Amino acid sequence: MPAKEKIILALDVSDAAYAIDIVERFREHVNIFKVGLELFVSAGPQVVEEIHRKEKKVFLDLKFHDIPNTVSKAALAAVRLGVYMFNIHTTGGVDMMKRCKDSVVEVCLREDVKRPKILGVTVLTGLTQEALKNELGIQHGIKTHVKQLSKLAHEAGLDGVVASGHEAGSIRNHFGKDFLIVIPGIRTSWSPPDDQRRTVTPREALREGADYIVLGRAVLNQPDPLRALDLITTEILTA
Ligand code: C5P
Repeated sequence: MPAKEKIILALDVSDAAYAIDIVERFREHVNIFKVGLELFVSAGPQVVEEIHRKEKKVFLDLKFHDIPNTVSKAALAAVRLGVYMFNIHTTGGVDMMKRCKDSVVEVCLREDVKRPKILGVTVLTGLTQEALKNELGIQHGIKTHVKQLSKLAHEAGLDGVVASGHEAGSIRNHFGKDFLIVIPGIRTSWSPPDDQRRTVTPREALREGADYIVLGRAVLNQPDPLRALDLITTEILTA
């Protein structure tokens, strides 16, 4: 797969015009742009429509986490926006994930629209082993926990998961090559970790089996973002 198909660029800005400017600047190098909480809450669904008008795909990263009925209805709104993928929290449980998937499949068949990929968020890449244990009271290791949450996502029929590069290898081994793995928390030798904790380099992410890597500050916070992306693309091509 060409590097362009592996990269998701996070539009972590609050201004729609600025987000669209980034899409324009990166259009030759990126096909999927991520709209997360900051941009969606500030700019609304119109920004997704604008990205589509630029003929680019959208990963709607709103991490739905609610009762099954609410998540399913939010998912249907995402379907109607025509997003390429969106995500829900695996900690919402199998029933929530399954009902979300089933409603999406049903409406896509009925309305003859392309079904978005649905990903389960496992353990956020900003969380550490200590936080998991001491704050959330989860006694087993992160890897075991991520594997368990991935198992639930797999059981519920989701297309894959969002996880850190540290757990990707074990997810790939357990759930096979068709289960998508999206890895955020990507950092290069020249980018600081910021608030991320379980980071990996682009090369490590691909080696561990990433289908997609999410690039945010490692590109957009650099003095020359296009050059940063170019360096990462070269790293991917030689991975
Ligand atoms: O700038 P940075 O590379 O840290 O951005 C990572 C992006 O991926 C952010 O938009 C963040 O919300 C998102 N993300 C994440 N961890 C997850 C899921 C999504 O960091 N588990």
